[in-house]
Amino acid sequence: MNDRLDLQISQVIARASDQLRAISDSPQLDSQLLMGDLLGQSREWLYAHGEEPLSDDNHLAFLALLERRLSGEPLAYIIGHREFWGDSFRVSPDTLIPRPETELLIECLLAARDRSPILVADLGTGSGAITATLARERPAWHLVGVDMSLPAIRVARCNSQGLGNVSWVHSSWCRAIRPGSLDVIVSNPPYIRENDPHLQSLGFEPRSALSAGPDGLDAIRVIVTEGYDCLVRGGLLLMEHGYDQRQQVCDLLTQRGYQNIQCLDDLAGQPRAIMASR
Ligand SMILES: C[S@@+](CC[C@H](N)C(=O)[O-])C[C@H]1O[C@@H](n2cnc3c(N)ncnc32)[C@H](O)[C@@H]1O
Repeated sequence: MNDRLDLQISQVIARASDQLRAISDSPQLDSQLLMGDLLGQSREWLYAHGEEPLSDDNHLAFLALLERRLSGEPLAYIIGHREFWGDSFRVSPDTLIPRPETELLIECLLAARDRSPILVADLGTGSGAITATLARERPAWHLVGVDMSLPAIRVARCNSQGLGNVSWVHSSWCRAIRPGSLDVIVSNPPYIRENDPHLQSLGFEPRSALSAGPDGLDAIRVIVTEGYDCLVRGGLLLMEHGYDQRQQVCDLLTQRGYQNIQCLDDLAGQPRAIMASR
């Protein structure tokens, strides 16, 4: 009999945490989430049942998941979902994994517009985390999730089941949107420089969701230009950007004629997003 087997659930979690320390900032949580996903149980359940033995089949299945995590694959891709704004969103290797920093866009938009009916486009919707969250928070708004990746739109559709105020457009940025039709554009576009060394550690996520040309601003340039034509007068553009791109994005907005430019920091105090009106 393999000596790795015949262990209690808590012992398997503890051993995996030790191994994960080498590649993860949250080894214990990762280990618990892998086990919880495998057994279909919550972390609370794992604490309460930690002394129970893990079956051989489950132990082997757990080791296979652990192997994937140890190879650097993000936890969200292994378990197939990620939390955003308190909800669980399905993700796949075709979608970016939603980041907590992006919740800033939700927070700002909810504060900037009241609950009355408006048309909002989420450019580069990916998993649909922004689109579906806004649709849930503001039932009178209509949300249009746009992405040039059809596989991503399929995932986004799954994440918005039951929401009647959402539609999807398979298009490059604003190409399929009628001029002067949008009250708000929100976007977390790709903005990493194409030669940025950080891209290597993000190798499991789609390159098209992450990087945008030599200075990382290719997508933002198009959104600033095309977005202006698609917004109604007084309409709002709210975009995430890189921590060192604030001035350049601000210049692009000013040159295109946007007004009331507001720069926004994330919870860590880093420049993260920008809001402007047409
Ligand atoms: C940084 S991800 C954002 C995903 C999601 N909104 C989020 O915040 O988690 C950028 C998204 O833009 C999409 N994208 C890239 N180029 C695009 C284009 N030309 N037109 C529309 N979407 C594009 C990618 O497929 C990806 O889903």
